[in-house]
Amino acid sequence: MDKFRIEGGRRLEGTLRICGAKNAALPEMAACLLTGETVELRNLPRVRDIETMARLLEHMNVEVARPEGEGESARVRLRAGTISHAEAPYDLVKTMRASVLALGPLVARTGYARVSMPGGCAIGARPIDLHLKALERLGAEIATEHGYVEARAKRLRGARMVFDRITVTGTENVMMAAALADGETVLENAAREPEIPDLARLLVAMGARIEGAGTSSIRITGVPSLRGAAHSVIPDRIAAGTYLVAGAITGGNLLLEAADPNHLDAVIQKLAECGVEVRREPGGLRVGGAGPWKAADAATEEYPGFPTDMQAQYMALMTQAQGTSILTETIFENRFLHASEMMRMGADITIRGNQAVVRGPTPLTGAGVIASDLRASASLVLAGLAAQGTTVVDRAYHIDRGYEKIEEKLRALGARIERISG
Ligand code: EPZ
Repeated sequence: MDKFRIEGGRRLEGTLRICGAKNAALPEMAACLLTGETVELRNLPRVRDIETMARLLEHMNVEVARPEGEGESARVRLRAGTISHAEAPYDLVKTMRASVLALGPLVARTGYARVSMPGGCAIGARPIDLHLKALERLGAEIATEHGYVEARAKRLRGARMVFDRITVTGTENVMMAAALADGETVLENAAREPEIPDLARLLVAMGARIEGAGTSSIRITGVPSLRGAAHSVIPDRIAAGTYLVAGAITGGNLLLEAADPNHLDAVIQKLAECGVEVRREPGGLRVGGAGPWKAADAATEEYPGFPTDMQAQYMALMTQAQGTSILTETIFENRFLHASEMMRMGADITIRGNQAVVRGPTPLTGAGVIASDLRASASLVLAGLAAQGTTVVDRAYHIDRGYEKIEEKLRALGARIERISG
C-alpha cells in the first residue's frame, strides 16, 4: 500500500495546471449509457476513480477506448452500442460510490438496472434514498434486496419533484434519466454545483432538452433518443482550492493554470478573510504571500457556499492561522477524521458535534498519519508540507482517487515529497 513521505518547511513556487474535474467527468462518463453512439470526453483527469468508472462501463459491454493523452489532450471515447447486462456489481461499487450514477442512465436506456448499494463510507452513511424516490417519481419500480437496487421501467415518464435535501449525484442521476423520459420533468431543490451545468451541457450536445441546470429548478423535456457528442470537462475546483491552500500554508507563490475562479468564489473569499490574496491573472489564479494568516470561521454549505470538499484542507491552514476558528460541517455527519491526525502533528483542535474549534498558530511536527477519505488525505499532505520534519501519509490510494500525480506536481513546485511503494 503506497505512502507519501514529505519533508516539510519548504515554500512552494511555480506554475501548475489544474486538470479536469473528477466529479464532472464521472457523471459524464455514465451519460454515455444513454446513447448507442460514441461520446468523447476531453480534459479528462487521469485519476483512479476515472479508471474505476471505465472498468464499470466495460463490465456493461461499453466500448472504452482507453483514456489516452495528458492534460488538456487527455481524452476517452465511450460507446454503449449494446449494453449486455445493466449491472454495477458490489466489488466495483464498493471502491467508488459514484458507480450509482449508472442507475438513472441504465433504467432510462434499457428499462432495467441492478446496482449494488454503495454502503456507507468514512465520512457518513451516504444513503441513496433520494435517488430512488426520484426515480420512482419517474415511474421506475424500485426493489432493494441482498444489497442491490433493482430498477425497472418500460418507459420513464416525466414528473415534478422536490428533493427533500440537496444531493449532487441525486440531481445528476435523475437529470440523466429524465432526458429520455416521456414528457416533462421539473426538479426543485436541485443541486447547483458547477458539475451539474457541465453535465447538462454534454446532455444537450447529445440532443437532450434541459433548462435551468445550475439553478435550484431544472426543467427537462424528454426526447426519444440521444446521439453521440464530444465534450471538454470543466477544471477541478476542489483540486484548485487544494493547491491554493498549499501555496498559502507554505508561504509560497503559485500560479494555477486552467483554474476557473468563477467556481471558487466562496473559497477565494474565505481565503481573503484570512489575508490570503488570490489574484486572477491572464494565465490563471495566483496565490502568494508569507502570512501570517488570520483565523476565520467557515461553515460548509451546498454550492455556491463554502464546499464540504474543502473543509479538511482549510482546517490544515487554520492550524497555522493566528487566532481561533470554528469550522462547521453541515453536509456530512462524520467529516472531521483528519482532525485527530493533525492533533498528532501538534494541532490544537477540539471537536464539538459538527463543529471543530481550531486554535492557531501551532507549530506542526512531522509524524506518521493515516486518512480515511480523499480530502482528509489531501489535508494531511498539506499539513505535512507545513510541518517541521518528516510526515508519512499512509493509504496514498485515497489521494490517487482524486488528485492527478500529486507528488509529481508538488515536487515540481519545490516540495520534498516522494511516493513509497509498499
Ligand atoms: C458529491 O457526493 C461529491 N461526489 C462529493 O465529493 C461531495 O462531497 C458531495 O457531492 C457534496 O458536495 C461526486 O460528485 C462523485 P450528496 P454525493 O448526495 O452526491 C445526503 C469528493 O471528495 N444524502 O450531495 O454523494 C448525504 O448523506 C466527494 O470528491 C441523502 O441523505 O453527495 C449527504 O449528507 C466526497 N440521501 C448530503 O445528502 C441521498 O439519497 C449531500 O450528499 C443522497 C444524499
